Amino acid sequence: MPQGDRVAVKIIEEALESGDLICGGTVTEGSAGSTAISLATVAPAYGCRCHVVIPDDAAIEKSQIIEALGATVERVRPVSITHRDHFVNIARRRALEANKLAAKQRESNETQTNGLDHINSKMMDDKLATMQSESKKTQNNDQTHVSTKMPHNSKCDPSSDSKGCDPSSDSKGGFFADQFENMANYRAHYEWTGPEIWEQTKGSLHAFVAAAGTGGTIAGVSRYLKEKNRSIKCFLMDPPGSGLFNKVTRGVMYTKEEAEGKRLKNPFDTITEGIGINRVTRNFMMAELDGAYRGTDREAVEMSRFLLRNDGLFLGSSSAMNCVGAVRVARDLGPGHTIVTILCDSGMRHLSKFFNDQYLADHGLTPTATGLEFLDK
Ligand SMILES: Cc1ncc(COP(=O)(O)O)c(C=O)c1O
Repeated sequence: MPQGDRVAVKIIEEALESGDLICGGTVTEGSAGSTAISLATVAPAYGCRCHVVIPDDAAIEKSQIIEALGATVERVRPVSITHRDHFVNIARRRALEANKLAAKQRESNETQTNGLDHINSKMMDDKLATMQSESKKTQNNDQTHVSTKMPHNSKCDPSSDSKGCDPSSDSKGGFFADQFENMANYRAHYEWTGPEIWEQTKGSLHAFVAAAGTGGTIAGVSRYLKEKNRSIKCFLMDPPGSGLFNKVTRGVMYTKEEAEGKRLKNPFDTITEGIGINRVTRNFMMAELDGAYRGTDREAVEMSRFLLRNDGLFLGSSSAMNCVGAVRVARDLGPGHTIVTILCDSGMRHLSKFFNDQYLADHGLTPTATGLEFLDK
């Protein structure tokens, strides 16, 4: 299962289990990364809808994919996380709005039901009989549609009246996936990704390195691996614009240059997408790290072309940055060590920037290396 999909599955399953999300409800998320695509992919399989708020500087194909998957997309101006209109805050608000709407509709349905009590029972019986036969006809005519909306979770049983499973009917409320702070994200990697790495390497690995978007991967995997073997080294790989390198290596989030007011116009001004943050999320807090490395946009671009030419791997910016990290760790540890990283994104989702020659030329990032000499400094 792709990396982001397992997080989406875990978030939705835990929310259905707790009752915070019900079948037909709308999962909302604010994301520039692939978790939003994963939520849009898996939500319908649970009988849920998906609404994604995305910064408008993210590659356009991301919104196109999310819409193609049947979710709704809101593209907004990128602003600081402290701003009420940051895409994450808007997504949180959309879930609250959906909950308010659902509560209103429930109230009005109850009022209507009370009114119906006065209709004589013969009329009611006739009406129900007609509705049941019509509903049977619809189901028979549209078997495929019905089965794709069938939820996996018992709380989504279409036969249960309060949790009916027709997403097109009344609003069933919203649930903010909150991948940054929702610990289901960490648990997906602690329970699934970590054990998979352990099994695939048969426990014989020396280091793990990855960049952090929400921190879920590095936290879940590092915790799991350290519990299996404390001597496995775990490292963060940090892209430009992110404050996590300083946090890990010096215990503070910002350097002097990055202090408020001195930062670049857009502090996330990097070609990488979905990695690097300037706050410590609850998920990242669970990480057990031995150190951190930094990577540049040029290194990520060059690495992606190197891997395409030499290994036939067409990777996105996060995976390329992770591989830059893997080479750095390998060079520091020396020969004879097994280093693991994650290839979490395909180049397919990065056609308008990372794999666009004109965009790279405009940003002085045209790749020129023939080998890995770009990592020699
Ligand atoms: C494109 C991309 N970047 C980065 C990551 C790692 O992010 P996180 O720290 O949220 O686990 C993922 C994880 O799925 C990803 O798909």
